[in-house]
Amino acid sequence: MPPASLKTRERLSEVRYEIRGELARRARELEAQGRTLIKLNIGNPGAFGFRAPAHLQRAIVDGIDQTDPYTHQQGLPAAREALAAHYRGRGIPDAHAERVFIGNGVSELIDLSLRALLNPGDEVLLPSPDYPLWSAATILNDGRPVYYRCLPANGFLPDPDEIEALVSSRTRAIVLINPNNPTGANYPRELIERIVAIAARHGLLLLCDEIYDSILYDTARFQPVAPIAGDVPCLSFSGLSKVHRACGWRVGWAVLSGDALAVREFHHAMDLLGALRLCANVPGQFAVEAALQGPNTIDPLCAPEGRLYEARRAVVESVAASRHLDLVEPAGALYAFPSVTGAAAEGFDDHRFALELLETENVLVVPGSSFNVPYRNHFRVTLLPQPDELREVFRRIERVLDRMAGDAATPVQARAALA
Ligand SMILES: Cc1ncc(COP(=O)(O)O)c(C=O)c1O
Repeated sequence: MPPASLKTRERLSEVRYEIRGELARRARELEAQGRTLIKLNIGNPGAFGFRAPAHLQRAIVDGIDQTDPYTHQQGLPAAREALAAHYRGRGIPDAHAERVFIGNGVSELIDLSLRALLNPGDEVLLPSPDYPLWSAATILNDGRPVYYRCLPANGFLPDPDEIEALVSSRTRAIVLINPNNPTGANYPRELIERIVAIAARHGLLLLCDEIYDSILYDTARFQPVAPIAGDVPCLSFSGLSKVHRACGWRVGWAVLSGDALAVREFHHAMDLLGALRLCANVPGQFAVEAALQGPNTIDPLCAPEGRLYEARRAVVESVAASRHLDLVEPAGALYAFPSVTGAAAEGFDDHRFALELLETENVLVVPGSSFNVPYRNHFRVTLLPQPDELREVFRRIERVLDRMAGDAATPVQARAALA
């Protein structure tokens, strides 16, 4: 008799990560058959020819002799000191090395922080659209995601009144992703002030995913949450993956701020969970000080003629020239989140569209509904390819949408006759 099939955690059925899901698997099959694809599904700068800055690489090479042992569970002391100084410089006076946690990417720290916080049935207020790890980590740590809307009609910014109306006796935290993945929205100070006031009124932890904190275009300016939050408990996340183009090194951090008494138990829980996994990857941590104290290498990429700036321009211009697309221009981060409008939007299904684009035009995008939105007429692309390649991508997208709009314009009987 064959062995019984292994059962897995039931709540995994509620979890999705389509950025690397079904469509990405189909893309790998097509590549194995010899097709050349343009894959815009992952915000992975190294896969598009970006390199981590040389001074960061050098810092790892110089430190490599010291990287054999485990380090402190919260991270290498020198790296945490550098991070504490950096966040004090941002206006968080209580940022000390003991309040800094270094992890294997922000990803690990998202999971640890929710595990430290949640009891079964506790609620977390999450943006919709979200970066889907936030939903997954909430669910897998026995919490319940409650979504506040960031609607395209409002520039993908949330409405603080709606956030407050969703607070219940079970709410524990508000997650902010700013600058935002997938929309590119950048939150203004007044909006952040209102959200901080909600957290203060209801005793909630602010979980601020600021991994794109230095990737901004044109006049957009980043506003960190923690300096505004002051005594309100706040965990600010960032890392080396995006701003420093070193996704593969798996280095992220979270800085705890707020009233010492209010955060004491949570601090202890984070430290304990960090200790259970011993420590984060040590070699990568040697690059942290160099990243914070060395030359700024991201601004030139985001300024006119910089690669990210010109990629964003290619997307904005392509959408403007499209018969079927609309876009809230991204103010920051590495993505654009266009919507399909008009005849092509009739009966539009973002998954069917993404599959057709892959099968017929060799382009891989992520359907908008993968980011936990109820509507199905958006998709996400990264701004990481060369600008000309992005223009080519949008020519191919236009061909698929032309066909869909043509189909929508053809009466049902005629379609049946053609079939
Ligand atoms: C908003 C957001 N948070 C967190 C992460 C995870 O980053 P890391 O590589 O540090 O785990 C990503 C990666 O794309 C992201 O977009």
